[in-house]
Amino acid sequence: MTPAEHATRPLPPADYDDARAVADEWFGHPVGLTMHRLFFDQLGPSGVWIGAEGRMAGVLLGLASEAQPELAYVHFHMVDPALRGRGLGAALYREFGRRMHARGCTRIRALAQPDRVGSVGFHEALGFSGALHPDYMGPGADRIVFERVLPL
Ligand SMILES: CC(C)(COP(=O)(O)OP(=O)(O)OC[C@H]1O[C@@H](n2cnc3c(N)ncnc32)[C@H](O)[C@@H]1OP(=O)(O)O)[C@@H](O)C(=O)NCCC(=O)NCCS
Repeated sequence: MTPAEHATRPLPPADYDDARAVADEWFGHPVGLTMHRLFFDQLGPSGVWIGAEGRMAGVLLGLASEAQPELAYVHFHMVDPALRGRGLGAALYREFGRRMHARGCTRIRALAQPDRVGSVGFHEALGFSGALHPDYMGPGADRIVFERVLPL
């Protein structure tokens, strides 16, 4: 199925259980509290669910920055491995970017671990520019801070 055949919507709290059940498998490693329940219970209206016929194909957890109101921030996103390479990840970003732009955000930011080539390639393909920040998340935990303008 193409992105056009999938629906998008915000995340109600009830999506947490579905997302939690697949997150470690879809990422390929334990994600721990990176996928915190607060992104569903408190920030769900900012997040994006994508799927078809009620079945989740991907999720994006994000928010509009309180510190920088013009900044939309993607915390986490994942797509079902069986459905990758069809534009669903880009569709999650487009929907999030559309909503954030409508509420006044002009930039979008996301972090990537330098060694996670899939995440790096994805953001570059979507037109993000990245700057390497050594020790960004603590000693030895470098991150690439990706940004671009909205709309996507
Ligand atoms: C990253 C991820 C969300 C991409 O989802 P996807 O649905 O396969 O992405 P899309 O099909 O929408 O691809 C969009 C663009 O990114 C590129 N891209 C996607 N995965 C890529 C990869 N592994 N390496 C290089 N480029 C990639 C695509 O080629 C496409 O570019 P194009 O438009 O120029 O063809 C998915 O691989 C995933 O869930 N990974 C595990 C979780 C993760 O790492 N999340 C990010 C950190 S929070």
